[in-house]
Amino acid sequence: RIAYVNGLYVPHAEAAVHVEDRGYQFADGVYEVCEVRGGKMVDERRHMQRLVRSLGEIHIRLPMPLAALGVVLRETIRRNRVRDGIVYLQVTRGVARRDHYFPDPSTPPSIVVTARASDPARAEASAAQGVGVITVPENRWDRVDIKTVGLLPNVLAKEQAKTAGAREAWFVDKEGRVTEGGSTNAWIVTAEGRIVTRPAEAGILRGITRTVVFEVAEKLQLRVEERAFTVAEALAAREAFITAASTVVMPVVRIDGHPVGEGRPGPVARALRETFHQVAE
Ligand code: PDD
Repeated sequence: RIAYVNGLYVPHAEAAVHVEDRGYQFADGVYEVCEVRGGKMVDERRHMQRLVRSLGEIHIRLPMPLAALGVVLRETIRRNRVRDGIVYLQVTRGVARRDHYFPDPSTPPSIVVTARASDPARAEASAAQGVGVITVPENRWDRVDIKTVGLLPNVLAKEQAKTAGAREAWFVDKEGRVTEGGSTNAWIVTAEGRIVTRPAEAGILRGITRTVVFEVAEKLQLRVEERAFTVAEALAAREAFITAASTVVMPVVRIDGHPVGEGRPGPVARALRETFHQVAE
């Protein structure tokens, strides 16, 4: 395997950043995960737009023009011979003596790109079975709209899910409403057949997969309501599912050990999953 690190393609096993990197010391950086399908990035343009936004929100400059970044992403995918999988991109505020204040503006941001294959058959088997989620109190900061590498609450919540035999943890705000998963957006399908997901204005990352699912739903003539839903509502829902670049649309069949609907993947999640790549760019 090969990784891209600050201008060089290096063997993955030897790919490293400096101990004084601000990503390492302060989680002072942002990232993107883009699905690779048939050797091509899915929704590259939207992922790049979100990267630019995340960087802007924390005042890190784009380390190279977007076109050049696209070349690096494609080259990393090519060198790793990834047909189906993900490409990961991380930009941090760079290397400087540890000090909370921003380093000198001349400090170049650090860039790392890796690509990794995944097994489509395994993903399909998961989707056919559906996955479980647990619910945990929301304990993240209020800027989760920024795709920062500061993911400790997400890591702890997802590990708790794994220990409980579930795939994902759903964060729940003080009003009992689901915000999102540790690395996915959260959705339900009501008894009336309405697809419901939380508005992206507060409490969640505006998922690219989420945005595309709105378009997929429109194509399938399914109604989407952007509003927060409670755990109780999710437990009474006909279906539930999660979305992310790494899992596309994944049916949720258990919440805190209770079955959702019949406890099997439902037709709406299945249809959205099957149609997704006809709509995604
Ligand atoms: N996670 N919410 C959170 C907290 C996420 O970390 C992610 C993505 C999403 C879904 O966003 P998108 O549809 O753009 O992938 C929502 C990536 C895949 C990860 O951390 O691995």
